[in-house]
Amino acid sequence: MTNILCIGAGYVGGSTMPILASHCPEHRVVLVDINEKRIAAWQSDQLPIYEPGLDEIVRQTRGKNLFFSTEVNRHIAEADIIFVSVNTPTKMFGKGAGKAADLQYWEKTARQILENSTSSKIVVEKSTLPVRTAEAMERILNSNSNGLHFDVLSNPEFLAEGTAVRDMQNPDRVLIGGRETESGQRAVEALVELYAKWVPRDRIITTNLWSSELSKLVANAFLAQRISSINAISALCEKTEADINEVAYAIGRDERIGRYFLRASVGFGGSCYKKDILNLVYLCEHYGLPEVARYWEQVVVMNEYQEARFASNMVASMFNTIAGKRIALFGAAFKANTNDTRESPALEVCRALLEERADVVITDPHALENARNDLGELAKRVTFEPDPYIAANNAHAIAILTEWSQYTQLDYERIYNSMVKPAFIFDGRNLLDHKKLYQMGFNVHPIGKPPLTRLTTNHRA
Ligand SMILES: NC(=O)c1ccc[n+]([C@@H]2O[C@H](COP(=O)([O-])OP(=O)(O)OC[C@H]3O[C@@H](n4cnc5c(N)ncnc54)[C@H](O)[C@@H]3O)[C@@H](O)[C@H]2O)c1
Repeated sequence: MTNILCIGAGYVGGSTMPILASHCPEHRVVLVDINEKRIAAWQSDQLPIYEPGLDEIVRQTRGKNLFFSTEVNRHIAEADIIFVSVNTPTKMFGKGAGKAADLQYWEKTARQILENSTSSKIVVEKSTLPVRTAEAMERILNSNSNGLHFDVLSNPEFLAEGTAVRDMQNPDRVLIGGRETESGQRAVEALVELYAKWVPRDRIITTNLWSSELSKLVANAFLAQRISSINAISALCEKTEADINEVAYAIGRDERIGRYFLRASVGFGGSCYKKDILNLVYLCEHYGLPEVARYWEQVVVMNEYQEARFASNMVASMFNTIAGKRIALFGAAFKANTNDTRESPALEVCRALLEERADVVITDPHALENARNDLGELAKRVTFEPDPYIAANNAHAIAILTEWSQYTQLDYERIYNSMVKPAFIFDGRNLLDHKKLYQMGFNVHPIGKPPLTRLTTNHRA
């Protein structure tokens, strides 16, 4: 039996370790976190993160070979392999503020591992880190005088929130980076063996440490770049009567371009894309590559433009004033099938509308609590309403900000009848049937297509 520990029971630790435990019943997996509330939630029926399919896997493994705890030190001592999936947010102070990764949680964990270890261990970086972080980790860990040896591996996580269970069960690839020393290669092999319980070996890629660390940043930069690219073209479509869906389909049929991630929207969100690109930008600056830095930075600039453009289009379309108007935001999560609201475009749009003194109501099937927390002080000025029909009642406008499939099933006739006229719908995800909505009487503003607008207030086609 191998004692496996994961430090950090957030989105990554919490969605990967239960699956690892389910495929390795002979091993013991413990997830620890300093956040007591989070650990209590993992031990309850109301898990702290919403991921389709995760509840069932946790139910099957919890108490058998999967355990949750706040006793970080005790479990470090017992562990053979330690995954570290603590948060690595953007640094908000000092050198590199606003771009570099804040590695304070990371370094604390390394020191904690060192202080509590009585045997040699494999330490696996699962968090997303700047390239060459493993070097610092190795130096801290191997600075002990009691003969312990630590092998540091990089095993970045590529899952996407909302499909985390599927992605972990059936990954496109697993990436493991290690030192090219004998003991480094033995550690790599031990981790390969774990994954090989359910992942075909030809999908397990092994590289040197630095390629592995850098590949994660680059993967996120490329994914976000595709979204910013299509969003940039959506702005041009709106000026030229080209239709972004048609353009995306036409270009995506070229296999060299491919069709994935070519959906125009109000913008990308989530805790990773922005912070990882800025981290990449910082690294390029650090290594004296300003042209490369500016190139990738533009992906983030374009995303901010798209969010701001969406909000200002709303104001402009609604006769240049939204002060005191009730506006219902459909969706708070940064994407469908997650309760995560970190960097959510929905909250960016919310902030912009509050600036204009709108009366904002947000609805979402799973993310209202996180939205309230993320909005901080501003939350006092927002109404949080789980029922979309109540949210839309008496509203001047609806904005679709998360592509929840539930929103395609709503009775928009009923919603239209309950709204103030002229009623507007701003579809930030191009999710709905725009022609149908227009025929009901709505003024419809999609992304990257001409708006369907009416001059008279209650004319019905
Ligand atoms: N969320 C994603 O989709 C995703 C995907 C791939 C990679 N990543 C990366 O994985 C890492 C974790 O991301 P996340 O979304 O799970 O973050 P998260 O904030 O949800 O979880 C991190 C957890 O670590 C805990 N923690 C911090 N310091 C600790 C310590 N010293 N001891 C014990 N616990 C500690 C925090 O309390 C928190 O619960 C980040 O580096 C992120 O970039 C995230």
